Amino acid sequence: MTTFSTVELTVYPNDCDAFGHLNQAGLAALLERARWEALARGPGMDLFQRNGVWPALRKATIEYRAAAYPRDVLRVETGLVHRGATSFTLRHVARRASDDTVVAEADMVFVCIDHLGRAAPLPEEVARFLGPRTSGAHQPLRVAAADAELAVEVRGEGTPVLFVHGFPFDRTMWRHQLAALSRCKRLALDLRGAGDSTAPKSPQSYSMAHYAEDLVATLDALGIRQTVVCGLSMGGYVVFELLRRHPDRVKAVVLACTKPDADSAEARRDRDALAAVAEREGQDAVVERLLPRLLAPATPPTQPEVVGQVRDMARRWSIPGIVGALRVLRDRPDSTDTLRRLRVPTLVLAGSEDRISTPDVARAMAALVPGAQLHVVPAAGHLAPLEQPLATTRLLADFVNQVG
Ligand code: MLT
Repeated sequence: MTTFSTVELTVYPNDCDAFGHLNQAGLAALLERARWEALARGPGMDLFQRNGVWPALRKATIEYRAAAYPRDVLRVETGLVHRGATSFTLRHVARRASDDTVVAEADMVFVCIDHLGRAAPLPEEVARFLGPRTSGAHQPLRVAAADAELAVEVRGEGTPVLFVHGFPFDRTMWRHQLAALSRCKRLALDLRGAGDSTAPKSPQSYSMAHYAEDLVATLDALGIRQTVVCGLSMGGYVVFELLRRHPDRVKAVVLACTKPDADSAEARRDRDALAAVAEREGQDAVVERLLPRLLAPATPPTQPEVVGQVRDMARRWSIPGIVGALRVLRDRPDSTDTLRRLRVPTLVLAGSEDRISTPDVARAMAALVPGAQLHVVPAAGHLAPLEQPLATTRLLADFVNQVG
């Protein structure tokens, strides 16, 4: 993540409400000041103007975490979490300087517009200031597994958390969590056949066992004995397999937007049909068939960039990888007993609008695991970490703090 200068700003009485707390408008103004300060310390406050464009705020997601009062000094850290051709997303974390308490976190999506209000490509000078264009990914490490080489992104220090993506996604689906969970060691791999990992050609190289052993190869390569493991959907199925094969490697579990049951006969037929589509028409055809059920109804109109990212992730799968994964999904076992036997701290997360792994399924899963926590993320479909990053990250951070 490209980071800008950290800026310290004082809260004035007129930033506060009648009860003396920093109010929403005051916070938004402070964050805006932090951005302009960062520009002033870098290329100059007229960076956009001299390039004939303006950064228009399209979406702001602010999570208020603690109160701030007049005379508090807020330390505002700002980082770039995403840069596209015409848009970019900045994340602010505002901490009270005296005790390091996080007062607020905010994700701000900007679109570069020209003087007629049309979206414009980021001028070169602006792009240079923001840093390299992201797919949300840092340079991954290469880890040798049995018959594949895996791309693994590793960031930070602290309690290890291994993220396992679903189908047909890749490690970049965790980009918000990788950027924001700054107090733990975040590991996210691309499963074989996806993202920047290699894709063995042989169908025999794809099985739940291969995927689970790839997680172990990743941990071994990084010298990690035990980890919190967080799987979304198919990633959750891989976590079940890891629990069956190597329970000693798992310190705690997050099961996000996933389910324990095996495929029905009809679902199995659909997997074969989709594999045929992949072979005949390619990755785009696969993702277009899946998209209508993947996201909450409000996500495509309000966050078109999420739809774009889903398409990009699917394009990074190889065809043998897709066909192999569909066969693994089709043949996966029922994991209800695995859940019943689970004795490590467990967090079950669901998207309130998920039609693939519904909140009811999540409730039933949580009921099977003694002491499991359950949270339903509002306004999220099957991809809660991407659709509602702040809420999802917050739940993950709280859980990792408890178990770490
Ligand atoms: C996923 O997101 O990994 C898929 O929805 C899993 C599935 O199709 O069962």
